[in-house]
Amino acid sequence: MTVLSHPNDGAGGGGRAHASGSTGRAPMSTARRPARPAGALVPGSGAGAGGHSGTPVEMVELSCQFGNIRALDGFSLAIGPGELLALLGPSGCGKTTALRVLAGFEAPIGGQVLVDGQDVVGVPAQKRNMGMVFQGYSLFPNMTVLENVAFGLRLRKVGTAQRRARAMNLLEMVELADRSGHYPHELSGGQQQRVALARALAIEPRVLLLDEPLSALDAKVRAQLREHIRSLQKRLVITTVFVTHDQDEALSLADRVAVMRQGRLEQVATPAELYNRPETPFVAEFVGTMNRLPGRALGPGRVEVLGREVEARNLPGSVAAGALVDVLLRPEEITVVAAPGARGIVSSVTFRGAQSRLDVLLSADLLVKVDLPSSAASALPAGSGVEVALASDNVLVDPARQTISLAEEPV
Ligand SMILES: Nc1ncnc2c1ncn2[C@@H]1O[C@H](COP(=O)(O)OP(=O)(O)OP(=O)(O)O)[C@@H](O)[C@H]1O
Ligand SMILES: [Mg+2]
Repeated sequence: MTVLSHPNDGAGGGGRAHASGSTGRAPMSTARRPARPAGALVPGSGAGAGGHSGTPVEMVELSCQFGNIRALDGFSLAIGPGELLALLGPSGCGKTTALRVLAGFEAPIGGQVLVDGQDVVGVPAQKRNMGMVFQGYSLFPNMTVLENVAFGLRLRKVGTAQRRARAMNLLEMVELADRSGHYPHELSGGQQQRVALARALAIEPRVLLLDEPLSALDAKVRAQLREHIRSLQKRLVITTVFVTHDQDEALSLADRVAVMRQGRLEQVATPAELYNRPETPFVAEFVGTMNRLPGRALGPGRVEVLGREVEARNLPGSVAAGALVDVLLRPEEITVVAAPGARGIVSSVTFRGAQSRLDVLLSADLLVKVDLPSSAASALPAGSGVEVALASDNVLVDPARQTISLAEEPV
């Protein structure tokens, strides 16, 4: 197997002008995280069509430096055999760099990339057996669609007839068989992205790296191709890392989701765990909608908010009883009932199908978002007075407050 090369990148596939070996590398970073990331591996769905059971991949304490920018800073993450892992994080947090280091296009200044238990740092990209689809389309402009898809097979010295048959088969999968003789510039962006996917899959990679492969596509094509990717990935049992900006995509597609921040892993968990039990305020606010409400620490692991005392799962022991903290609550963790003359005033209602989102003003500077069944929300038009209550027994707090309640008191 081989990795696909790219016309703009000697190492292949990257679609970036820079090469590894950038200037200004810092010395090896000191270990700041345990060698193994938190969270058990989630195995794939068993042996694939070919009878193999996928390849485990582990990034251990990876650091990568560009001039004075530390793009990866002791980044550790283990991906189970056949797992589809989505990588989420703000722009510039190091997602693409992590994929490039995995693929061998960027050399880390420290750390390991373990593929099937073997450290492949130092192994050239061409020998890593990874398929890639990058942010740009990165097709060879001077080759037809069919030649693009068959390219990796040609490097592997697969015979012409077999190469053609396999490439056509993949083009059928991405519904572009009728465009096999066309050149990339004759295709739309979405079509080019599908060719790039077919090209990455043609070599039957043991690891598939997808860097926002769907971002250029319209919603319908995007949803179709997402399903394509998921079913092919499951059928072929290919360990896959999928970078996306689209949270819904990450939560609906992935076995687990990893959230990165400033070159490090912030949390990795199943989509439901990540949404329901975020470990940090950063994850809580990055994934899904979060309210911040002023609350008061009551003692170890206890907090008062919205007139109730509840468990605060991450309240540090260093926070003194009586201290004001922010309490983070999802819109569905808050309920409202009509109460004319009450403190809360509905300022707007957004219909979203079965659910509606209410914006409720609790004071001049404190607005909370509440999700309600649309049937209940229809009785609470803008201007309604409402009583707001907590519908959760276990909350996440941020002692570094951002809410400023006029009264400096919990609501
Ligand atoms: N070749 C390079 N030279 C200098 N800085 C770089 C290089 N490649 C990446 N960086 C920097 O490293 C950091 C991480 O970049 P990276 O492309 O990995 O981010 P990302 O998470 O993929 O962002 P996005 O979501 O915008 O694609 C950024 O600050 C970026 O500017
Ligand atoms: Mg990127």
